[in-house]
Amino acid sequence: MALNGWRLVASVACVLFLLLAVAAGSTTATTEGARMVIRWTARLSLILFLMAFTASAWVKLVPGAYTIWQRRNRRYLGLSFALSHFVHLGAILLLASVDPDLFWKLTNPVTILTGSLAYLFIAAMAASSFDRIVAAMGDRLWHGVHGFGAWYIWISFVFTFGKWAVMDTAYLPAMVLIAAALSVRLLAYFKARRIGVAG
Ligand code: HEM
Repeated sequence: MALNGWRLVASVACVLFLLLAVAAGSTTATTEGARMVIRWTARLSLILFLMAFTASAWVKLVPGAYTIWQRRNRRYLGLSFALSHFVHLGAILLLASVDPDLFWKLTNPVTILTGSLAYLFIAAMAASSFDRIVAAMGDRLWHGVHGFGAWYIWISFVFTFGKWAVMDTAYLPAMVLIAAALSVRLLAYFKARRIGVAG
């Protein structure tokens, strides 16, 4: 049974539901549960985002059954990322309401401002993943929102994971994945240009 389209989004929703259940069951402290959900949704979001972010590039570099699956499901990977990251936001709001002191120790107004802008992009990109809205927006606006939004979110991951990576080497694999995604995009770009020039 192939994991395609809405079935893919539903599977990610099940993983998120499981995470919420584990967080609720493993601790009686709401603060700890919220922090667990914030951290694990950030990690799940990173994987889903990078899969959507590199989908077209991978097909250009190594066309094959897996990369074609990834490209075909790019929209649903993006929607799954949005779902995961809105759970991140829900847990952040929960933490801010139950323990405002800890919340302000873990974050600051600049993060809130830049993070809110990221959420505006995530919401706009998720909403414009539906055919009717794509048609209403037109090609230029759609590519503008999705192109700029994707790079903004990529940079947000660089800063958010990077901030922890300088203090804790356990965050280095995330940074390697983020850098690898950039390399994949650049390699695909140069390959397409080379073929364009040669053709
Ligand atoms: C208003 C916006 C946001 C706020 C207030 C916020 C707040 C937080 C807080 C308080 C934590 C620390 C949790 C803990 O250590 O217990 C955290 C972790 C994190 N956030 Fe967010 N966040 C926001 C948006 C974003 C965005 C847009 C991204 C990425 C696109 C992001 C990625 C991360 C990452 C990577 C972590 C570290 C996860 C880990 O420890 O593995 N956040 N966030």
